[in-house]
Amino acid sequence: MSMPRKCLISAGPTREWIDSVRFLSNPSSGKMGYELAEAAKEMGLEVTLVSGPVALSCPKGVDLIPVVTALEMQDALLKRFSQMDLMFMTAAVSDHRPEYMGKIKVKKDRFPATLKLIPNPDILYELGALKSSMQTLVGFAAESSNHLTNAQKKLKDKNLDWIVVNDISNDGIGFQSENNEVTLLSRSNEAFTLPLASKKRIAADILNLVWK
Ligand code: CTP
Repeated sequence: MSMPRKCLISAGPTREWIDSVRFLSNPSSGKMGYELAEAAKEMGLEVTLVSGPVALSCPKGVDLIPVVTALEMQDALLKRFSQMDLMFMTAAVSDHRPEYMGKIKVKKDRFPATLKLIPNPDILYELGALKSSMQTLVGFAAESSNHLTNAQKKLKDKNLDWIVVNDISNDGIGFQSENNEVTLLSRSNEAFTLPLASKKRIAADILNLVWK
């Protein structure tokens, strides 16, 4: 019997701590990543889900690695990537983290009027640089303007096989929504639009396109 193929998925937001009680984050629900995890498991893949804090339960039979910050997510993904056949980077990684003020609750009268931000690593860029020709790497792009041009650039710059483009200027899809409408672009210049449907349906369609 052949070994099951391995799939790694990142999902959800990251939290970037300011002090012990405050953080910078975003409203990602994690839904797209969790639906992909479930669909990949159903296709017979061995699935590892590296997830930021979300209000979803892990699909049955999926190995869940919970993380909180972008640096924890980077560590969890880089450690596992080389053993994977397929990877979906759906996480909404915070591009910046505030300078950490320490394991205390800073008093409001001591709280600074401006926060100094430090750039976080671009995890997907790092994965793209490590990718072998045997691996399929799928990125996601959240765009509010010139989506296809911007996504094409991310596909190239991050050495991806596919990019799934979300138009976040369109209310009712993407972040926090039950539904989504996406366009997939491949490194060989294919383009497929998946019309408005549940994230479950979109997940199944994405898998069928990228994992033949
Ligand atoms: N990504 C990542 N690490 C980051 C930021 C983004 O791995 N620090 C990944 C996301 O998970 C996604 C892809 O890169 O798969 C594109 O994310 P997006 O937010 O659309 O783009 P950015 O690269 O952050 O660029 P910009 O904010 O300028 O649009």
